[in-house]
Amino acid sequence: MALSQASNLVEKLVGHRDNAETVQNVSNPGRDRAKYGDPTQTMKALCWTGKNSVEIKEVPKPVLVEDRDVILKVTGSTLCGSDLHLLHGAIIELQKGDILGHEFCGVIESMGPKASKRNPNFHVGDRVVCSFQIGCGDCMYCEKKLSSQCEKTNSNTIEHGMYGGNTAGMFGYSHFAGGHAGGQAEYVRVPFGDNNLLKLPDDVPDEKGLYLSDVLATSWHCVVDTGVKDGDVVAIWGAGPIGQMCADFAFLNGASRVIMVDQNWRLDLVKAKNPKIETVDFTALPKGTTVTSKLMEMVHSGPDVCLECVAGEYAKGWGHYFEMQLGLETDTSEIVNELITSCRSFGRVGITGIYAGFVRFIGNGQAPVLLYWDKLLKMIQSGEIDPSKMLSHRIKLEDLDKVYYKFEKREDGIQKIFVQTKFSGPPAPGTPPLTNYS
Ligand SMILES: NC(=O)c1ccc[n+]([C@@H]2O[C@H](COP(=O)([O-])OP(=O)(O)OC[C@H]3O[C@@H](n4cnc5c(N)ncnc54)[C@H](O)[C@@H]3O)[C@@H](O)[C@H]2O)c1
Ligand SMILES: [Zn+2]
Ligand SMILES: [Zn+2]
Repeated sequence: MALSQASNLVEKLVGHRDNAETVQNVSNPGRDRAKYGDPTQTMKALCWTGKNSVEIKEVPKPVLVEDRDVILKVTGSTLCGSDLHLLHGAIIELQKGDILGHEFCGVIESMGPKASKRNPNFHVGDRVVCSFQIGCGDCMYCEKKLSSQCEKTNSNTIEHGMYGGNTAGMFGYSHFAGGHAGGQAEYVRVPFGDNNLLKLPDDVPDEKGLYLSDVLATSWHCVVDTGVKDGDVVAIWGAGPIGQMCADFAFLNGASRVIMVDQNWRLDLVKAKNPKIETVDFTALPKGTTVTSKLMEMVHSGPDVCLECVAGEYAKGWGHYFEMQLGLETDTSEIVNELITSCRSFGRVGITGIYAGFVRFIGNGQAPVLLYWDKLLKMIQSGEIDPSKMLSHRIKLEDLDKVYYKFEKREDGIQKIFVQTKFSGPPAPGTPPLTNYS
C-alpha cells in the first residue's frame, strides 16, 4: 500500500487531535460540496491525482465556511521546490483530488463578518498576498508572529507524533499539514483571513509581491536564523530560488564570500544574476575530490556558515536512492552530513530544505512569514531586493500540470514561475512574457 494511503488510514483510525479552531481537511471544496463548495459555480484548480501525477480539474468554487474566512480571486501563484515533495508523494497523507499551491496572491472577493471586524483595513477588491502557513492570530506563537507554529490550525495526529508537536496548517500541503486547499486555483478560501493576508501597495506588482508568501520569508529566515555575520564565508547547497535568494540575503547581511553547490544550469543562472557568487558543480569534481574537500580547498578550514536549500528527498548514493524508491525511507541525511563535515569548527549549519518523515533534523523549520513580511515588503519597495530576479517564466494556470513535470526535470531553464489566471493583469514591465505550454 502506498505510504500516503497507509498514513491516511492510520490517521483515520487514531483520529485527529482536538486543538484546531478552524475546520480541517477541506482540501477540495468538492469533497463535501453542500458544506464547502458553491452549488453552481466551478473553477480550475491543480489537483494531486496520485504519486507523480497532477492534473488541472474543474472543481466547485470555495465558499465562506467560517466567520473569519476570506475568499480570494487568485491573480498569481507559483511552484515551489516543496511542491515536488508532494508530487513525488514524499510528504505523506495526500489524498487524490487535494488542491495544491501554498504561494499565491489575489484580490479579496468576499469576507466573513468577523474577518472584516478584526481587520477593518481589508476591503473587498483589495490586492493582497497570502502567507503559506495559516496562523490564528491569537495563540502564544501567533502573538509573537511565529506563525509557522500556530497551535490552532492543524490537528494532524501523525505529524504530532513524528515531530513531537504540530506545525501550523499550510495551504495545499497534504492532510499532514491540516488538509487546507491550496492556491494553484482560480479561487481559494483563506481561513483566519484577517490575519494571514498582507495588502500589496500599488508600487509592488503581483510579480514581486507574490513571493512574500514563502520564498522570500523562507530564505531571509534561513540566513538570519542561522546567523550570517559580517565577513562570513557562506556555502549554500541548492541553487533553486531559495538558494538564490539566500545568496543575495547573505551578502546583504555582510557575507564576504558566497559559494553555491549544485549540479546543473542553475549555477550559471545564479552567477549571471550575481557575479560575486562562486560555484561548485558536485557532478564535475575530479575523482577523489568530494564537496567537503573542495570547499576546504577553497576556504581555509571550511565555510563559516553552511545552508541547506535542497531537501531530504534528493539521494546522492544508490543505496539511499533505492531505499527511497522502495518507501523504506522518506529522507536521506547525505547532504546534511556534507554540510556538517564542510563547516569549520564553531561554524553554523542551517537547514531549510524539507525533511519529511523518518529522519528529523532540527533546522530552521518553517519560516514564520508574518515575522518578516512587513520588513521584506519595504525592502522590495525601496529596491533593496528584487524578487523578480528569480522569475524565469510566466505561464497559464491551465498549463500548470505540464509545467510541474518540466520543473521537476529542471527543463526549459525554469527557475521560478508566475502562474496567471483569468483574473491576472498583463505582465508587469520587465517581467517575462507568457510562455504557452498548451
Ligand atoms: N522551511 C521552509 O519554510 C521551506 C519553504 C520553502 C521551501 N523549502 C525547502 O527548500 C527547498 C529548496 O526550494 P527551491 O524552491 O529552491 O527548490 P528547487 O527544487 O527549485 O531547488 C533545489 C535545488 O537543489 C539542487 N540539488 C539536488 N541535489 C543536490 C545536492 N546533492 N547538492 C546540492 N544541490 C542539490 C537541485 O539541482 C535544485 O537546483 C525545497 O525543496 C524545500 O524542501 C522550505
Ligand atoms: Zn514553498
Ligand atoms: Zn495561532
